[in-house]
Amino acid sequence: MDIHKQLVIDNYLDAGYFERNLRKDVLDGLGVGPGVQKTLPPKWFYDDYGSELFERITRLEEYYPTEAERTILRMYADNIAATSAADTLVELGSGAADKTTTLLDAMEATGQLKRFIPFDVSDGILKSSSESLGARYPDMDIHGVVGDFEHHLDKIPGGGTRVIALLGGTVGNFAPEQRKKFMTDIVANMVPGDGFLLGTDLVKDHDRLVLAYDDPHGVTAAFNKNVLTVLNRRLGANFDLDGFEHVAVFDTENEWMDLGLRSLRDQAINVEELDLTVSFAEGEVLQTEISAKFREQKVRDELAAIGLDMVRWWTDPNGDYAVSLAIASSI
Ligand code: SAH
Ligand code: TRP
Repeated sequence: MDIHKQLVIDNYLDAGYFERNLRKDVLDGLGVGPGVQKTLPPKWFYDDYGSELFERITRLEEYYPTEAERTILRMYADNIAATSAADTLVELGSGAADKTTTLLDAMEATGQLKRFIPFDVSDGILKSSSESLGARYPDMDIHGVVGDFEHHLDKIPGGGTRVIALLGGTVGNFAPEQRKKFMTDIVANMVPGDGFLLGTDLVKDHDRLVLAYDDPHGVTAAFNKNVLTVLNRRLGANFDLDGFEHVAVFDTENEWMDLGLRSLRDQAINVEELDLTVSFAEGEVLQTEISAKFREQKVRDELAAIGLDMVRWWTDPNGDYAVSLAIASSI
């Protein structure tokens, strides 16, 4: 038996990947005619600075989801370890992976822990979190994957019994059809006996929701605007960050937070590397992200729609946030 524990990181995002995919997303999302909603996909927030800003968001008092999820994991990690019987934790969008230790501790306590597989588009944070977890769990293999949910889920190593965790409400950042596709792709990469652990933020008082996505310290605004900095740096765009303001509103019909950047004046942005000029009217909003809020039945239905049976549903004592567990069965 191999007693030498390893830290391996596979990187599927070469430099060309960023240029190709960012270009396509910017052309699709910003190269639209007047009056058409401009959008940008959320993955471009997370360069090193964006990942750092997101970590600061998770420590804000106003941003309750992180603490609520941590509370649930602390309360039920033993149950998750026992019910899933997993020896491998796969974490999609692992980021700083600081709640992850709660799960790994519970798996270690039962003696079942063998391997951790963090998966993230942001290579800097994946490397630093893998290194610190490697030091903390010397007997665990770490096999990190730097990849994109849209293209590289099939690169996740198999073997053993895995629980695939998607925490932080990240599932809510996909539009409904993309969410269905993403969840279908996840299930396609599971084998019978694998678990799926899903963190979802819940519908609640609208003022609290808005405050969580528009904090008075301006950290969320800086995070949102960072996507413009990414475009300036990577594509030679000339966005003036002071020409936009952060907006966060709750869409009551769709039950999601709508996050965007509102142009403070009529302006034309030049995206040099794409030979593209993007005109914004004063007041026009570029949609940068949605963050869907869920109800129990909806999560149950969406899991059932991809063939997964929810076996556990846990909320924090305030009922703000939920973590659910499903196990893939052989059909
Ligand atoms: N799980 C952490 C971080 C959530 S933030 C927590 O609960 O706090 C969302 C994470 O998903 C970020 O680390 C971001 O880099 C990653 N991410 C976003 N879009 C992605 C994509 N398309 N592919 C892979 N990772 C992505
Ligand atoms: N997954 C996080 C969420 O939906 C992402 C997030 C938090 C976010 N705050 C944000 C995205 C502000 C854009 C802007 O809660």
